[in-house]
Amino acid sequence: MAEEKSSESLWHGRFAGGPAEALMAYTASLPFDRRLWEVDIRGSKAHVRGLGRAGVLSTAEVEVVLDALDKVHGEFASGTFEFHEGDEDIHTAVERRVTEIAGDAGARLHTARSRNDQVATDLRLWTKGAITEVASGVINLQRVLLDRARQAGDAYLPGYTHLQRAQPVMLAHHLLAHAWSLHRDLDRLVDAYHRLDVSPLGAGALAGTSIAIDPVTTAEDLGFASTFANSLDAVSDRDFVAETLFALSLIGIHLSRIGEEWVLWTSEEFGFARLDDAYATGSSMLPQKKNADIAELARGKSGRLIGNLTGLLATLKALPLAYNRDLQEDKEPLFDSVEQTVLALAAIAGMIGTAEFDTERMAACADAELLVATDLAEHLVRNGVPFRQAHAQVGQLVRRHLSGEANLRDLAVAEIGSDCAAYFESGGATKMRTSPGGAGPSPVVVQIDAFAAAFAESVTRLDGLG
Ligand code: ARG
Repeated sequence: MAEEKSSESLWHGRFAGGPAEALMAYTASLPFDRRLWEVDIRGSKAHVRGLGRAGVLSTAEVEVVLDALDKVHGEFASGTFEFHEGDEDIHTAVERRVTEIAGDAGARLHTARSRNDQVATDLRLWTKGAITEVASGVINLQRVLLDRARQAGDAYLPGYTHLQRAQPVMLAHHLLAHAWSLHRDLDRLVDAYHRLDVSPLGAGALAGTSIAIDPVTTAEDLGFASTFANSLDAVSDRDFVAETLFALSLIGIHLSRIGEEWVLWTSEEFGFARLDDAYATGSSMLPQKKNADIAELARGKSGRLIGNLTGLLATLKALPLAYNRDLQEDKEPLFDSVEQTVLALAAIAGMIGTAEFDTERMAACADAELLVATDLAEHLVRNGVPFRQAHAQVGQLVRRHLSGEANLRDLAVAEIGSDCAAYFESGGATKMRTSPGGAGPSPVVVQIDAFAAAFAESVTRLDGLG
């Protein structure tokens, strides 16, 4: 888009001279807030209709301004909108152009409105759309996890604590563990959406206006669920940005944990999964390499999401009421976190959806004798031994096994009973996890249904966001 000569600033009446280049370079937000053009036009259309209802603009003037806003919309949509040097932000750019097109009627557009309530309105509208987009990315990844869990059948792998093999778990169970954390993310997003669904339009610069506007009607016009109650709060509140950034940070953290896992799983040392070529990268020097860069960046970029959140919180801290220019710093972190999260969700979904699991390798690792230790202790418990004693008794067998005396199976059969042998059969220990929500085949069947139901409900909730 071409840059043209400077026009007058919005506040030129009070100033003898124009703004310094250094001021514009430092304070302008157009380079990043131009993406708000669509919501800015939507907000202005609602405001103009409100001014018509208030009798500030005649019906004819309302039409002229609405037509001009449509024309500006067309220019943005087709990429022909021309920014001028004096366009400090998207709001000034749109208003300038509307005034060029609509003349005097256009010059009435900003009546009873400040950029303070305007920018808050725009950003809330934008965030509603952004949350919906992120939520559909989360749902897409959940669908992949659910599909893969269903396909996993009776595959199992070692479950870990402290990254040491602990007890075997069904592969479906492991995959759904991540799907459930994403379920909470979705809940947080929807929750944040509803709390931010409040229109600040009509709060003016900070105190409202003497013009007889009706903020409730413009809120309805814009599809907001409710209207601000306090004009000072309306223009200074950025809780919704902080909440959204937190929800995105936590999604990022969840993806980073998935990422770390896939870095491990695809390593030769683990060998639990192989990436599809389309979702892996090679090395410029080492011909044999196939790297899990998506997984690594999911891990790496989570730092940036956390940084965006903490940066914004630091900006908000101790700000006096009401609007301060500091608040302009809300946008870049929000835009960046939304963009990165949407990209990450799609990349991770593709990576997991196309990968191949080596279930033989998983089973071989999960069938290691030591993973049966807890089942031996629980076997003793079923025979009346107090757990603490059972734990010590099995611990001794493990110690004898590790010192080279015999394999654990033979020791268990000799010392505990021949019925222990079944636990050592391939997949034998996995079947022992029968408690509700546990990692064995029977509770996992129940869980897959429970997750599918929760998932279907999420899809309905997302549709409801509109
Ligand atoms: N570009 C500004 C922002 O993003 C718009 C509001 C400016 N308001 C003002 N009074 N300077 O916050």
